[in-house]
Amino acid sequence: RQKHKVTVIGSGNWGTTVAKLVAENTRGCPDLFEEEVQMWVYEEDVVIPSGSPHYDASVGDKPQKLTSIINKYHENVKYLPGIPLPTNIVANPSLLDAVKDSSILIFNLPHEFIGNICKQIKGHILPFARGISCIKGVTVTDDKIELICEYIGEELGIYCGALSGANIASEIANEMWCETTIAYNTPPCDRRDVNGAAAENGHVMAEHRDSRGKVIKTQLTALPHDYPPLDHGELHKLFSRPYFTVSMVSDVVGVSLGGALKNIVAIACGFVEGHGWNMTAKTAVMRRGMLEIIQFAREFFPETIQEKTFWEESAGWGDMIVSCTSARNWRYSKMAAERGVSVQEIERTELNGQKLQGISTSREVSSFLRARGVEDKYPLFKLVEGILDCKVNVEDIPSLFRK
Ligand code: NAD
Ligand code: 13P
Repeated sequence: RQKHKVTVIGSGNWGTTVAKLVAENTRGCPDLFEEEVQMWVYEEDVVIPSGSPHYDASVGDKPQKLTSIINKYHENVKYLPGIPLPTNIVANPSLLDAVKDSSILIFNLPHEFIGNICKQIKGHILPFARGISCIKGVTVTDDKIELICEYIGEELGIYCGALSGANIASEIANEMWCETTIAYNTPPCDRRDVNGAAAENGHVMAEHRDSRGKVIKTQLTALPHDYPPLDHGELHKLFSRPYFTVSMVSDVVGVSLGGALKNIVAIACGFVEGHGWNMTAKTAVMRRGMLEIIQFAREFFPETIQEKTFWEESAGWGDMIVSCTSARNWRYSKMAAERGVSVQEIERTELNGQKLQGISTSREVSSFLRARGVEDKYPLFKLVEGILDCKVNVEDIPSLFRK
């Protein structure tokens, strides 16, 4: 009998944290998963500072490959410093080698890189692989918008679900408790009957809808019989930890849009606070932001939206609150406003390679709304883009609320 082999594609702050918790679980579930977890690392040269416990005087200030450092010291010194990683994580600089023979692919990198990743791995993965996207963002081409998990599924011809929630990587890496939401609709061809046999054989046509409600049919290859099933129960075992409570749902639209669009609102909250206003002003912006997110989901995903996800799940209001009070998009746009410089400049100078997803998401969503002539229906989203482009002032935010 086969076991699921797991690869995490991405090794930033969140990518490394998810690799850690998944690797703890593959160790604990040897009947379902291979113990070793592959983690694809965008290779770079890193200098270990002399104050670090991993500083080696014989190497000195000579740059070393990040993958070698991770595999030698079991720590991602650049993106998750100070956190010991399970030794069953293998950092791999070769994308094709990292995904080879993996039946579970966890996509976890800034959304702007996903197109290139899909191009590279297409045709090099197991045809029955299944994906989980932990990426917060959307894909916009011309006037079309796609959920990242849907985009991955269509590009690779696989099924891909989404994980999103009120999750600050460094807190979870330190095993401070929080919760998350995973949206996954087990494809009919993967369902097993009571005896564990596949309920349907062979290829199936799975239906997806794009943002315009158009039905897209993707040919899926069924998970072979000699693999353990992959349904909510198994995914729960893969991601859930005593410090990471997982709620399994079916609403990929709510989970994906909540995670992507709150980053625009978090940037607005950073501007508001950097301007000198406080929690009451931020609360008004959060409330307004959530209304625009729900309106967006209603307008562009009318067939599939389940509004309760925004109210009841960590991926909804939970993520909105944490993102506007303690996450990077909020923190660094606040810093930008306080210093009177652009957020892009702060990203370049202060984040040591980490990325703020709200900047590109704001531009992508605004261009999508403009292309459809509906940008005025989303005044907060429009205003954030204007502030990022230095065309609008933070003082204009209250005008959105005047009756
Ligand atoms: P990060 O911002 O910490 O790091 C950036 C990553 O991008 C690094 O791993 C870097 O090596 C990689 N990279 C740079 N250039 C690249 C290229 N050309 N191709 C591929 N990779 C490249 O990343 P992160 O925090 O792990 O974010 C991944 C996703 O997780 C994002 O969508 C983010 O919104 C989401 N997320 C992050 C957190 C968090 O707390 N950090 C929490 C929840 C969700
Ligand atoms: P940042 O990328 O702004 O840190 O957001 C992390 C997050 O998604 C919190 O849930």
